[in-house]
Amino acid sequence: MELKNGSYQLQGTKFESLKEQFGSPLYIYDAQAIEENIRQFRQGFSSVDLKIKYACKALTNISILKLMKKNGTGLDTVSIPEIKMGLEAGFEPEEIVFTPNCVDFSEIETAVEMGVNINIENISNLLKFSEKYGNQQPVCIRLNPHIAAQSQTEKVDWWHKQSKFGISIDQISEVKRMESEYGLRINGIHIHSSSVIMTPEIFINGAQAVFDIALQFENLEFIDFGGGIKVDVGDGKEVIDVVALGQALDPVFAAFCKKYGRQLELWFEPGRFLVMNSGYLLTTCVLRKQNSGAEFVGVDSGFNHLIRPMMYNAHHDLVNVSNPAGDKEKYTVVGNICEIDNFAIDRQLNKVEEGHLVVIKSAGAYGYSMASTYNSRFRPAEVLIHNGKAQLIRKRDTYDDLVKNQVEISI
Ligand code: LLP
Repeated sequence: MELKNGSYQLQGTKFESLKEQFGSPLYIYDAQAIEENIRQFRQGFSSVDLKIKYACKALTNISILKLMKKNGTGLDTVSIPEIKMGLEAGFEPEEIVFTPNCVDFSEIETAVEMGVNINIENISNLLKFSEKYGNQQPVCIRLNPHIAAQSQTEKVDWWHKQSKFGISIDQISEVKRMESEYGLRINGIHIHSSSVIMTPEIFINGAQAVFDIALQFENLEFIDFGGGIKVDVGDGKEVIDVVALGQALDPVFAAFCKKYGRQLELWFEPGRFLVMNSGYLLTTCVLRKQNSGAEFVGVDSGFNHLIRPMMYNAHHDLVNVSNPAGDKEKYTVVGNICEIDNFAIDRQLNKVEEGHLVVIKSAGAYGYSMASTYNSRFRPAEVLIHNGKAQLIRKRDTYDDLVKNQVEISI
């Protein structure tokens, strides 16, 4: 967003006019910013055979999926409905990978029938897969490489803590047994890097461990490093420079491919990197209130619309777009849910009055996709600004949406 001629706008559209047209609260996405993120990601990995599989759990709207498809990405999905949405958006099954966690084997069978790439992350389902498909159906395995052993930093420790996910490297021998007994064809090795991708050095260390394991498998077509690339949300925390990461990984990956004896594809599954900073939650201040010395700004939204501040203590920058020249004051910005519901505590904002628009930034990833109707409030509408034009891509909920699946019995 930019401040132009005294008003905040997005690709030439003022936030005030977005509210006039579509109402408040409102999710707004900037297609140009998403395309720029894809371009930047590719720029980093220009000399390898890179495949971006957009992790659509971050933002699943079908128009967003179509935008990704148009820009040449593939799709990372975690449920059958996500696969269906991907197909509806025009992705070919081969461009989609199914990377579920903790699912019944029947979901994997359904995904195989749908023709997508399969990723399995536990020995139990891998054994069922081997028994059913033998060498008829390739599979990628998700590993948990326990990289913590290699570094004492808190950042890497996070990788280790995610032990619910992935097949432990201690279980590789069981995977090898399934290969020889059932002819299981392992075509990819996957690790979801999560928030470990903080510096290229840490990442390269982890990657090296994965390459060492990969050498034990003969039928690989790709290595998949998952998602988890952090973005700058304005809280001053360290983020990775994706171009530098690509440049650092390129030669290491090339050396691995040489050793492996074949050129493999390099996959990533970025979610937040592509959409987080391309999205905004527009809210309206409906209440100003003072209590025990605190200055509250109450907005017409809440953690039912954007749960990240309450759930993860996640930082989101806020902008009072109605008062660009106003003096800074300190506010606690709260939502309307009837329990503790903070978007930000003691935050400096340009003086806020009732009726002002307060825009919450970095709301493109895990915003709408984690929204609920708690307190029986409607989820917001979604708008995409594409080629300079703001278009509705999801209607605001209505009362009928809230009650349509309820079955009223006589009491
Ligand atoms: N691949 C796999 C296997 C994943 O589990 C995830 C995210 C991604 C890719 C995409 O990660 P990303 O690039 O977006 O970080 N709700 C949380 C994030 C949970 C992410 C879970 N897995 C949030 O609001 O930050």
